Amino acid sequence: MANPESSGVAITHVVGARPNFMKMAPVYFALAELGIAQRIVHTGQHYDARMSDVFFEELGLPNPDTNLGVGSGSQAVQTAEVMLRIEPELLTQRPAWLCVYGDVNSTLAATLVASKLGVPIAHVEAGLRSGDWSMPEEINRLVTDRLSQLLFTPSSDADQNLLREGAEPSSIKMVGNCMIDSLVRLLPKASKPRTISTPLEQGAYGLVTLHRPATVDDAATLKGVLAALARLARQLPIVFPVHPRTRANLEAQGFSVDPSIHLVDPVGYLEFLWLQKNARFVVTDSGGVQEETTYLGVPCFTFRDNTERPVTCEHGTNTLVGRNPERLVNEVLAMLGSSSDRKSGRRPALWDGAAAQRIAKIFEPLLRTAESRASRHS
Ligand code: UD1
Ligand code: UDP
Repeated sequence: MANPESSGVAITHVVGARPNFMKMAPVYFALAELGIAQRIVHTGQHYDARMSDVFFEELGLPNPDTNLGVGSGSQAVQTAEVMLRIEPELLTQRPAWLCVYGDVNSTLAATLVASKLGVPIAHVEAGLRSGDWSMPEEINRLVTDRLSQLLFTPSSDADQNLLREGAEPSSIKMVGNCMIDSLVRLLPKASKPRTISTPLEQGAYGLVTLHRPATVDDAATLKGVLAALARLARQLPIVFPVHPRTRANLEAQGFSVDPSIHLVDPVGYLEFLWLQKNARFVVTDSGGVQEETTYLGVPCFTFRDNTERPVTCEHGTNTLVGRNPERLVNEVLAMLGSSSDRKSGRRPALWDGAAAQRIAKIFEPLLRTAESRASRHS
């Protein structure tokens, strides 16, 4: 199954956007322990230091072997730029396997190129489906899974989705959640943000992240959710690390934001873990934050109509409130006012900090086969 023309690089990891880094780190370290030759290709989809460099540093990752510097653009431009720039990388390095993460444009673009070059693909976080075709991520997930030879899934719903779509059963490997691996490793190092001026005491603030186009690119929706947050801020101060997409929209609309919503720049991973762990509640439209709050047992209210992570609602502490400001306010106030305030959450199976170890174990024999093939060809 491995690329028979491999040059000696066993695995090339392709990452580009913030959530990719936490998912790759444990896989990189588990494979490094086995002495497996790896390359990290950063597409440059995210490029601000606060959206990229800080994570390499805090996760203890080496600098990427190469950065393709694609930057921002429309869906088509960004995807096409990654495709154009990654093709020579894969042609010269000829990895035995390409490893891609999650559902961002960089994931899809690298997969399309590798697939046509005959480089087999492993997809970490395979099988998640929202059923919402208006999200670019749903298209990215579908195509990436269809072209991948190894489908590493985080939960059994993902296995079911893949089987329903006709994926080869032997390619589906439920390994657990790699993003949670990073959380488990680094939670002991979570640190209270130093640059946020509002007092932050355990359980005495709400935490917000919003960055989906459906939430923040539409002026009326953004205005509605900000008004809802202002109502919640009468109960508890709100800390809102603002994603650059959201910042750009706030500036473009010239909204004046209620002063009890503390807008801050995106924070590093260790600080964000601290903020999540100690929050009274979290409001989000992020995929990763739905998972991390479920692991941490913190009430999470997801401002979306659907989720590709239903396990966080069924087993965890996540509540989907739709893109409905009124319902958001009512659900959070009901939780704050009730004595048994927490949706009794439990951690999904295999969200235990060892998902990447399971991935490395699956790769090991495959890479040995690739090595022996390569030596026969040389
Ligand atoms: C991307 C992913 C999304 C993921 C999110 C994680 C796709 C289709 N979307 O969305 O699935 O949840 O990352 O955060 O791949 N910008 C900066 N600096 C940066 C990066 C972005 O200023 O370092 C601004 C630019 O104005 C850019 C905008 O943010 O146009 C959006 O960036 P982009 O990477 O296109 O999409 P995200 O919204 O970040
Ligand atoms: N995160 C962070 N700082 C922030 C906001 C989020 O470190 O200011 C982390 C969060 O802990 C999680 C990941 O970023 O590990 C989630 O990324 P994001 O919400 O950008 O993307 P999504 O998961 O929605 O694709």
